[in-house]
Amino acid sequence: MHHFHYKGGKLYAEGVSLDALAEEYGTPLYVYSGHTVVEHYKALDHALKPLDHLICYAMKANSTLALLRLLARQGSGFDLVSGGELFRVQQAGGDPGKCTFAGVGKTRAEIEQALRAGIYCFMVESEAELTFINEVATRLRKIAPVALRVNPNVDAKTHSKITTGTYENKFGIAFEEIPALYQRATALKHVTLRGVQMHIGSQITTAAPFAAAVKKMIPLVRELHRRHRLEFFDIGGGIGIVYEDALASGQPDWWKKKGAPLTPAAYAESVVPQLRTLGLKVLVEPGRFMVGNAGVLLSEVLYVKKTGKKNFVIIDAAMNDLIRPAFYDSYHEIVPLRAKTGKTIPSDVVGPICESGDTFAKDRPLQPLKTGDRIAFLSAGAYGFTMASNYNTRPRAAEILVEGTKVKLARKREALVDLIRGETA
Ligand code: LLP
Repeated sequence: MHHFHYKGGKLYAEGVSLDALAEEYGTPLYVYSGHTVVEHYKALDHALKPLDHLICYAMKANSTLALLRLLARQGSGFDLVSGGELFRVQQAGGDPGKCTFAGVGKTRAEIEQALRAGIYCFMVESEAELTFINEVATRLRKIAPVALRVNPNVDAKTHSKITTGTYENKFGIAFEEIPALYQRATALKHVTLRGVQMHIGSQITTAAPFAAAVKKMIPLVRELHRRHRLEFFDIGGGIGIVYEDALASGQPDWWKKKGAPLTPAAYAESVVPQLRTLGLKVLVEPGRFMVGNAGVLLSEVLYVKKTGKKNFVIIDAAMNDLIRPAFYDSYHEIVPLRAKTGKTIPSDVVGPICESGDTFAKDRPLQPLKTGDRIAFLSAGAYGFTMASNYNTRPRAAEILVEGTKVKLARKREALVDLIRGETA
């Protein structure tokens, strides 16, 4: 579901023409649909209604203040992975008391910052970290609320770089070691055991892996709750979105015809009945689901060149703006901002960066593009801007938030002086 549609031959974000935005703000340009974000939040919130629950939006997916503010207004909590993200939540008016803090390598400064801000819970990923949090909390004369992150060793069958729930990767604590570690934690005077957490991976497009992981966890969580009187079970994030058929998936009937990869209702159906039996608050940490289909990256064609058998479309966006295709071979649908007719030709869409990896699409059937044409990469709202860099000393793009016909410049395009800020020659 999203609000990007053609009207009169032009692509719109809600009530605003994307071509007009590109004209005014330049390209590359990220554009977000505020209503899409809020509707995703509400749909998931509704699906989880049978449970006492808290949605902690995994802001690593997109931490732009304007989006955080939208979600904070809905009552969302936030899943953080750094002190920088906590700072952003506070700047956006979010409630630290609804924040969880995950990650395998929290520093002393970050732990202190989170304790002072009064976050809801630390998600602890090793015994060493648990001991360290206790030590930092002792010094600050505070009690740190903690949950241990359980690695359920369930294969989420997603991309190898984003699978997290098996013993092959660095996350969490092995399932078998958990009861003893909870027991040892009771000896630490400055931590309090508040919950249990798991996260099995990202871009999971069927309900089965979630259901399997929850099923495996329930007896463990029940036992931990019996022994330690916990408050919550956090089942992580990972709900997948539509990439391949992204534009069409904005039509309400598409979901009925095609069957969604994973609707909030299907997700909830697979886990809620099991979770209800626990009598605990349930936390979820969706990132991509909340913002992925709510954002597009706009770019302009600089040159078209035919060499050998290839038709290269060289655009002004590059892997520094959207690294997912280069990094994960991921697919983003590409559509023109002004609808085209005519036969498609296989095209390689590439950026200006001096690396062959700076390729968005290979042999993609696209209607012929020419210099000055503008295109949109769909489903770019998650892990788009947050993974952007200044590689090749390229300024990072501007970001726009659209709500209805309202346009807000959420972030200015970086200027050349921004690129050398803090440096000494
Ligand atoms: N919770 C934890 C502990 C996580 O590690 C993650 C994502 C999430 C929640 C949110 O997952 P989501 O709901 O967004 O799937 N950059 C990659 C994705 C990396 C995901 C890292 N962890 C990409 O562009 O596909």
